[in-house]
Amino acid sequence: MQAWHAPTGMLIGGDFRPAGDGGLLKVENPATAESLAEVADGAPEDARAALDAAHTAFPAWRSASAYERAAVLRRWFERMQEDRENLALLMTLENGKPLKESYAEVDYAASFVEWFSEEAKRAYGRTVPATRAEKRILVLRQPVGVVAAITPWNFPAAMITRKVAPALAAGCTVVLKPAPETPLTALRLGELLKEAGAPPGVLNIVPTSRAQEVAGVWLADPRVRKITFTGSTPVGKELMRKAAGNVQRLSLELGGQAPFVVFADADLDVAVAAIATAKFRNAGQTCIAANRILVAHEIAEEFTQRIVEKVSAMRTGSGLDPQVEVGPMINDKGRAKVLRHVDDAISLGAQVRLGGRTIAGPGYFVEPTVLSGVTRRMLVMREETFGPVIAISTFSSEAEAVAMANDTEFGLAAYFFTRDAGRAWRVAEHLDYGIIGLNDGAPSTAQAPFGGFKESGVGREGGIEGMDAFLETKYVSWGAVGTDLP
Ligand code: SIN
Repeated sequence: MQAWHAPTGMLIGGDFRPAGDGGLLKVENPATAESLAEVADGAPEDARAALDAAHTAFPAWRSASAYERAAVLRRWFERMQEDRENLALLMTLENGKPLKESYAEVDYAASFVEWFSEEAKRAYGRTVPATRAEKRILVLRQPVGVVAAITPWNFPAAMITRKVAPALAAGCTVVLKPAPETPLTALRLGELLKEAGAPPGVLNIVPTSRAQEVAGVWLADPRVRKITFTGSTPVGKELMRKAAGNVQRLSLELGGQAPFVVFADADLDVAVAAIATAKFRNAGQTCIAANRILVAHEIAEEFTQRIVEKVSAMRTGSGLDPQVEVGPMINDKGRAKVLRHVDDAISLGAQVRLGGRTIAGPGYFVEPTVLSGVTRRMLVMREETFGPVIAISTFSSEAEAVAMANDTEFGLAAYFFTRDAGRAWRVAEHLDYGIIGLNDGAPSTAQAPFGGFKESGVGREGGIEGMDAFLETKYVSWGAVGTDLP
């Protein structure tokens, strides 16, 4: 195996250390089901120590100038670029994604750090004309306080930097619980931030197998002023309930059920190419993965055949193989869910046009799968599949396509393909989603707001909105300024 480097202790107050109770968390390679490493397994006492460190670091970090914070972030961005090979290897080993995607994720993750190193300097307030001549009205933006960030395994680097970079830029300090499946990337990012000159305690990282207990410490402590989470909708709802106790601010990036709508006037070359990203990025394990492929019935057969041809050529296997485009599911549970969705669709009448089975041997692989004749009754149309399954349904009119696309409690990303400019406007305006890919299967980028409508979440990450999530607004009404110079 190629050599990788990452700390295995948790990061608290600038030091990497073992868990207070000596616990160890096993990290597995999902492509082989073999053990990769053991890292410190955080206990509630470690969560408290991390919070103490973040709380202690907060006054100095919030008082540093925006330019000083920006300089640390800039150096973090540069360290990530210098460590690109190692970070990519870590992600392929602990997440399973193909190396090419891991490199793309390092660049994506670093782009948030670069963007927010620049936005740090633009946390502008404003002055507002007052009704009385002797008064002044000032609006100030200030860091919200200590932030607890909880991140998923599907983007082990980017979901961390999309939260931590704006939090640090705003002047907040952070306690982070990375996903137990992918702690090595998180710890290496913490080490790179330390090397970039971040003061001790500004970022603290507690990997753990005891998510509820660790998060419970942070939710119960009023020193945590903000919770930012990417993960499932049920967990997001639970966090909302628990954050109510201390009225902690929340940003939630939750589940999706993305429709991918192909109108009869679409450029099929564009739509077929876009599926590769919108469906197969991270083997379909993304919240913005195209889950429901809705195709105009007059082009459905041609589109399906072209998809089958494209997907048949995609190689599945270990992400370390440069030819591989589709990696494994993260674990056995993830694979079982995908197979359950496929079996359910088949039992309710869907046709298997490609794949549909698990791949024998070590690791948690599922064949890239294409199903046609999919209906609303099937799980693939109602729940997030989180796997490499293309489920195709048809529609007869624009109104029906939009109604089918919006027929879900989720509202994260939607994709649609058309060459008609009027339809482009109409449909973009009527889709109840936070992110629209119009003739585009890859809308994610650091400078645009990412987040969902309805049960897909609260708040936005990235863009100028990404800083807002970590800033409080304070209004100063300044009286007795006078109207004349003395
Ligand atoms: C996600 O799956 O939540 C993140 C996808 C992205 O940032 O593109």
